[in-house]
Amino acid sequence: MAYISRITSGGLISAGTLNDISKTSIHNNLLNQITGILCYGNGYFFQYVEGNEQALTNLKNELLVDSRHQEMQILYYDRIMQRSFEKWALQSWVLQKGMVKEVALKNLLPFRPDNWQGDDWKDFLALLKEYAVDHEHEFARPLRYNTLGLTLTRLVSMHQAFLFIQAMLILLLIVNWWLLNSTSF
Ligand SMILES: Cc1cc2nc3c(=O)[nH]c(=O)nc-3n(C[C@H](O)[C@H](O)[C@H](O)COP(=O)(O)O)c2cc1C
Repeated sequence: MAYISRITSGGLISAGTLNDISKTSIHNNLLNQITGILCYGNGYFFQYVEGNEQALTNLKNELLVDSRHQEMQILYYDRIMQRSFEKWALQSWVLQKGMVKEVALKNLLPFRPDNWQGDDWKDFLALLKEYAVDHEHEFARPLRYNTLGLTLTRLVSMHQAFLFIQAMLILLLIVNWWLLNSTSF
């Protein structure tokens, strides 16, 4: 199964969301013989998981009601000839510029899987698989707590102009209030 989804504001608020997902998933996937990969970046998830039909149906049902993400779009749900990530219960990978050294991957950032067409996800997966094999030790790194911090920083920088105008308005109000008070004496 391959799908994309978007993190919800509820998911963003809790700084531990990515770590929580990663921890539960590794535990459950080991039990259910599911293997795969989860990518997070720019507010989007891309997950590719492989396992037996029952295990994947159960996971799909859990995912559909998980409030930490939304707009789940299933890109693929079908039989495969062999597993691609048989060694990994779930490798979690954060795609942020500065965290990714591989040029081919870096060129795909900011991560916008919602813009993928047709089989684009397969090319992306092939790239990830190649990268995972070459950088096995780095790839085993769990999702990091501060990733959400980076996303929040990005959100703040996107709204910088808005925040600046708000600050100026508050300043004007304070000056206005001060002038009114000082002229009444
Ligand atoms: C983006 C995303 C990916 C997830 N991937 C998995 C996964 O691979 N395996 C898994 O068991 N749960 C995964 N979860 C969590 C499930 O939705 C669900 O919370 C979990 O399976 C419940 O497990 P529990 O009953 O042991 O608490 C994921 C959640 C999100 C938001």
